[in-house]
Amino acid sequence: MRKFAAARASTWKRAQSTEGYKADRETVVEILNQALATELVCVLRYKRHYYMASGIHAQAVADEFLEHAKEEQTHADRIAERITQLDGEPDFNPEGLLNRSHSEYVEGRTLTDMLREDLVAERIALIPIAKSSATWAMTIQPAVA
Ligand SMILES: [Fe+2]
Repeated sequence: MRKFAAARASTWKRAQSTEGYKADRETVVEILNQALATELVCVLRYKRHYYMASGIHAQAVADEFLEHAKEEQTHADRIAERITQLDGEPDFNPEGLLNRSHSEYVEGRTLTDMLREDLVAERIALIPIAKSSATWAMTIQPAVA
């Protein structure tokens, strides 16, 4: 494990010195910012669903929505932290948040609508993560392996 960490650090240092890497890093940061926006939109959507479900006396489902809102906030925080580790800047600007996000903000009129929208959004939220992982793997990981 220590050997892996040393190899990774060495690769990181070498990679930082190349222009090609800089472009790749910027791409990764951009994709991670899309993932961040996606998570933030999910937080907002789950919060909305939590309060609306509470209003119609569906406490168990409401509690589930609240739990998901907290989880998505944790994901957003981790992504923001990763962006700063890459010397990037996490984009929390509310302006354009929905444009950067891969998931939509759908309020939903009924509990069924809300659950359906949340399920769709959960699948979509994985897209930027997969993209950034793939980009990361193509740029950094081969040199480490
Ligand atoms: Fe998430």
